[in-house]
Amino acid sequence: MQAVVLVGGLGTRLRPLTADTPKQMLPVVDRPMIEHVVAHLTGHGVTRVVLSLGFHPEAFTNAYPDGTCVGVPLHYAVEPEPLDTAGAVRFAAVAAGIDETFLVLNGDVLTDLDVSTMVAGHRASGAMGTIALTEVDDPSRYGVVTVAPDDGSVELGDMTQGRVSGFVEKPPHDEAPSRWINAGTYVLEPAVLDRIEAGRRVSIEREVFPALAAEGRLRAVCSEAYWLDTGTPEAYLQAQTDLLDGTRARMEPLAATASVAEDAVVDRAVVMSGASVGSGATVCDAVLMEGAVVEAGAVVRHSVLGPDARVGRRAEVTGRSLIGRGQVVGDDARVDVALIPDEG
Ligand code: GDD
Ligand code: MG
Repeated sequence: MQAVVLVGGLGTRLRPLTADTPKQMLPVVDRPMIEHVVAHLTGHGVTRVVLSLGFHPEAFTNAYPDGTCVGVPLHYAVEPEPLDTAGAVRFAAVAAGIDETFLVLNGDVLTDLDVSTMVAGHRASGAMGTIALTEVDDPSRYGVVTVAPDDGSVELGDMTQGRVSGFVEKPPHDEAPSRWINAGTYVLEPAVLDRIEAGRRVSIEREVFPALAAEGRLRAVCSEAYWLDTGTPEAYLQAQTDLLDGTRARMEPLAATASVAEDAVVDRAVVMSGASVGSGATVCDAVLMEGAVVEAGAVVRHSVLGPDARVGRRAEVTGRSLIGRGQVVGDDARVDVALIPDEG
């Protein structure tokens, strides 16, 4: 089974961390996000991953110079210009010569979804596409899906399933027709590719899925497995704390070469290699990337320090602030993005 993984977005909501790094190459605890995604796929029989690239493709090709990622052969499909989600799928699948049932994943989603069971259900159903759904409290910033339950003739373990009766991408707040959203994992037949016009931006969520749903050819499986879209500062932080506190796993929060002063307070925080926390400093619900420095008496809460960023003595960084690579917060300074008016 081959999987096209979409990793070509600009990651605007995670700027400045994504100024020169695609979001899927940002670290999540111990390795880049894409490695978590590909490792999950290897457990479900995926033997080749086609990376659909656009923004800073060299970040991937430099990181995996032998063309494998966690042992899985990669194919790099670099778009000449951003083609949006369906355009990207078509471009990558054609470039990689895909001519059988294949998977598509949004590369910024971390999940424990049972992909093999989903694939088995798709094959048994004869649908042109099957999409995974997850339930969220605020559906309006996702693709919202309604499902018409069917006769249950396809056995899918404990996942419920049915025919997609409606798909609406990012509806206004009070107009979401359900709390089940597109989880960003699809099983598609190659025939779907013929429905995507070549050479222009085509959105799979705004064009392809609504059309397939109207024809009754799109199915969905509802999953309660762990699921998180990491694309906002809050979610990117949560992706890591969920791996520390047992929500998803319990991983080691301090890299071997991290240094933390004995009298510093470090709680639900990841301190990556070469990063340091000085005497009397407090670091909570935070991520310090490689080489980041928190000086004595400083406070970092609900925030992320990029590689080699520095927070000066007694300074405070709070409120989901993202400090970019090499940026310096001066001694006694205060940074709190919650204080900066929303640009709307
Ligand atoms: N190659 C390529 N080209 N990749 C792209 C492009 C493009 O033009 N645009 C976006 N991507 C990639 C992003 O890097 C990301 O991995 C994925 O496609 C989805 O884009 P996002 O920008 O993260 O979309 P979203 O989170 O707002 O919404 C999508 O994901 C939700 C679930 O997480 C939609 O698919 C929603 O329907 C869905 O609910
Ligand atoms: Mg996303």
